[in-house]
Amino acid sequence: MVEGVIERTLVLVKPDGVRRGLAGEIVGRFERKTLKVVAARMLTITPEMASRHYAEHAGKPFYPGLVTHITSGPVLALALEGRSAISVVRLMVGATNPQAAAPGTIRGDLGSAVTPNLIHASDSPASAERELALFFPSGDYQSYTRLDAEFA
Ligand code: RTP
Ligand code: MG
Repeated sequence: MVEGVIERTLVLVKPDGVRRGLAGEIVGRFERKTLKVVAARMLTITPEMASRHYAEHAGKPFYPGLVTHITSGPVLALALEGRSAISVVRLMVGATNPQAAAPGTIRGDLGSAVTPNLIHASDSPASAERELALFFPSGDYQSYTRLDAEFA
């Protein structure tokens, strides 16, 4: 099997995840999977930023509730790097509805509701590029070698 290429992806621990004290648990899962945290930022998303981040969902029935939730408190934004990081992170996050998310996934293990479903993750290379530019406009990603690099 061909090794995946190194990719970068955006994760947001949503306000419910931060308020439930699950940020550390979530970051830890990605670290254990050998994904590298190359940027991190705690912020409260403004309505303007939410409308840019979730532009693809504008007009959908769940959109107003989604924007209300994502702007309701601080989020932890992470840039994660690793082999096939975009698809690996999506697999680890699990299905949108925590009731349908497989055990072992973040939403499957820890989530209970659809709108406050703990976490956002970019769903494609194009989304990752767009979303990373929105949350980390400086493009200042850290470079370091993990001690477990032989597995990375
Ligand atoms: P995300 O973008 O947050 O990583 O989640 P996703 O790809 O799994 O789901 P997506 O379809 O992009 O939906 C974005 C977020 O909108 C909320 N949602 N609510 N009530 C509903 O039917 C509904 N559907 C989606 C969720 O917070 C979802 O993560
Ligand atoms: Mg999505």
